[in-house]
Amino acid sequence: MDKIIIQGGVPLHGTIEISGAKNAALPLLAAAILADGEVIYQRIPHLKDISTMMTLLAHQGADVMFDHKNCLHVDTRMADKPVAPYELVKTMRASALVLGPLLARFGHAEVSLPGGCAIGARPIDLHLKGLEAMGAHIEVEHGVVKAHAPQGLHGARIFFDIVTVTGTENLMMAATLAKGETIIENAAREPEVVNLADSLRRLGAKIKGDGSGTITIQGVPSLHGGTIETIADRIEAATYLSAGIITGGDITVTKTNPADLEAFLTKIKTCGVKVDSGDDWIRCQAPKRENGEKLKSTNIQTRPHPGFPTDLQAQFMALMCLAEGTSDITESIFENRFMHVQELARMGADIHLDGHTAIIRGVSQLSGAPVMATDLRASASLVLAGLAAQGTTTISRVYHIDRGYERIEEKLKQVGAQIERHSTSEQLIPQGMLYD
Ligand code: UD1
Repeated sequence: MDKIIIQGGVPLHGTIEISGAKNAALPLLAAAILADGEVIYQRIPHLKDISTMMTLLAHQGADVMFDHKNCLHVDTRMADKPVAPYELVKTMRASALVLGPLLARFGHAEVSLPGGCAIGARPIDLHLKGLEAMGAHIEVEHGVVKAHAPQGLHGARIFFDIVTVTGTENLMMAATLAKGETIIENAAREPEVVNLADSLRRLGAKIKGDGSGTITIQGVPSLHGGTIETIADRIEAATYLSAGIITGGDITVTKTNPADLEAFLTKIKTCGVKVDSGDDWIRCQAPKRENGEKLKSTNIQTRPHPGFPTDLQAQFMALMCLAEGTSDITESIFENRFMHVQELARMGADIHLDGHTAIIRGVSQLSGAPVMATDLRASASLVLAGLAAQGTTTISRVYHIDRGYERIEEKLKQVGAQIERHSTSEQLIPQGMLYD
């Protein structure tokens, strides 16, 4: 199993180019199932979750390949197996994204339930209710969702009790080929949802209102092929900006959209970080330690977009561990998304948990330690803590990081980090939570 080893305490300076967003690319890939033609993807990140989705599409009979210009071509016209098996689904919650498109295209689908949740069908119950409202008949047997819509799906008015990102995406995709109009109320407003709606429109879908809480889709008989582009990964961008901040450095991220990170940038400014941005770049300069300036603490509460993203909660906590004062971090999206707390505590952080809130008292220094990655973003927070800590931090179970960060050691080395990956031939036994 690979390990990442970091010698901390080096301020990071420089520029990092941001990759395409994992969470945008995954639904875009699932959308190929709807297209009666080849879909060409630009800016697909090379990540474990993306290869899982490619394998899933190939398993269904699609042609999937990268060309010499690094564009991904997906042609699902020959696909004939509307199934998502447990071996693939268990490693990635987002596999459920193929359910809506498969059902819309084939009239039936079998998708295993994602793991990582103890309460049966709960992680995708809202997806299933929405598809039922559109005329699907759904049964869950032995951990497999079996969905049928022999007469095809029809338009419906759907109100989500909870804002769900992949739920919104799944139903939006299904509705593109349903008969009539579908209205999704309390829809997710994440930039990745807008990227999907834009891309579906390029393939011939009729969608309005994406980016707001109400999305309206007029079904069309078919979608065609075309070329689509993934937006920048806002979570990756904020993680690298945080790496500069936590080490007392100065990082610029490029090929990214500052508007997608407003909640993070607003908060980080209140902590004393100097933020500059242009059309497609963001620069964060940490408080100048040589002038006696210090990172200040602040409180955050995770919320659906445009609120503070849950996928940045762990990284922000790493920053607050070294900030002056006390910070309350409340997780309102996922229960128990605090797996990183114990590991940060091993590095000398002072964190107390009170239900959904972590209370962090800033300390003047963290110390390197052996720690374990428990989920994707928790791993990112440990990398940040390791970059700032005195001494050596060894992070094990880094397959979690590889699910969502493209060439992380290379990108961090480029700005001065002392970070290495040690590969061993030990067998990979994935363990941990799948929040994203
Ligand atoms: C997506 C993101 C993930 C991010 C999350 C919240 C992708 C691939 N992943 O995950 O990185 O952390 O949004 O911003 O885009 N819920 C239900 N029933 C459902 C669906 C959701 O109870 O049918 C609950 C979830 O348990 C969670 C909340 O709703 O508590 C939000 O989850 P959701 O937005 O659906 O997360 P994902 O779309 O899986």
